Amino acid sequence: MLWTIGDLHLSFEADKPMDKFGPEWAGHAEKLTAGFSDVRPEDVTVICGDLTWGMDMRSCLSDFRFIDALPGRKIILKGNHDYWWSTATRAKAFFAENGIDSIEILNNNCFFHEDAALCGTRGWMCPNENPAPHDRKIMLREIQRLEASLRSAGERERKIVFLHYPPIFGRFYAQGLVEVMERYGVRECYYGHIHGAGRALAFEGTDRGIRYRLVSADHLRFRPIKIM
Ligand SMILES: [Fe+2]
Repeated sequence: MLWTIGDLHLSFEADKPMDKFGPEWAGHAEKLTAGFSDVRPEDVTVICGDLTWGMDMRSCLSDFRFIDALPGRKIILKGNHDYWWSTATRAKAFFAENGIDSIEILNNNCFFHEDAALCGTRGWMCPNENPAPHDRKIMLREIQRLEASLRSAGERERKIVFLHYPPIFGRFYAQGLVEVMERYGVRECYYGHIHGAGRALAFEGTDRGIRYRLVSADHLRFRPIKIM
């Protein structure tokens, strides 16, 4: 089975008590452990970014060990808070050195699960319709990354996209990202990043043939949802 959830925001080593983000975050690691209870060892869970508050790999070790201990394979992508992320190569080396063998990285590549290709990238949000050159540049790079990921899926008909940032949020519409998804025939997109009161502005539904779903941990009550 294939599952997804985003924004675990683990903080076993960083001093970040999460309950200040809202009462539902109290004991969130325990809630996640309980939430993964239906996931079987042969399953795959895509985690849509913001895994840990740690600032570098070393200070995230307990968080990665926690993720590693959750059942099944985990495919991770980058969120805006993943400051530990330098390169996918370094992360892979760090996981290997520490015997973490159930976490894989979605970055300019894709993974196959049954008849589906699992594609994605972090994404980006531009604060208004006239984004600064800096924001435009980052968005362009993310569009290219998403395209590289989708291209690597080849002829696989069912391509599922995972992003950290929402491509649609309130008045924000990531035209370039949506166009790439349309061009590659994507019909499902899962994203995280949005928490608490912001969820009222999150788009969940179908737009131009693509079905969107918010999967941030608090939105899912810390229980991954089954995609297939
Ligand atoms: Fe985020």
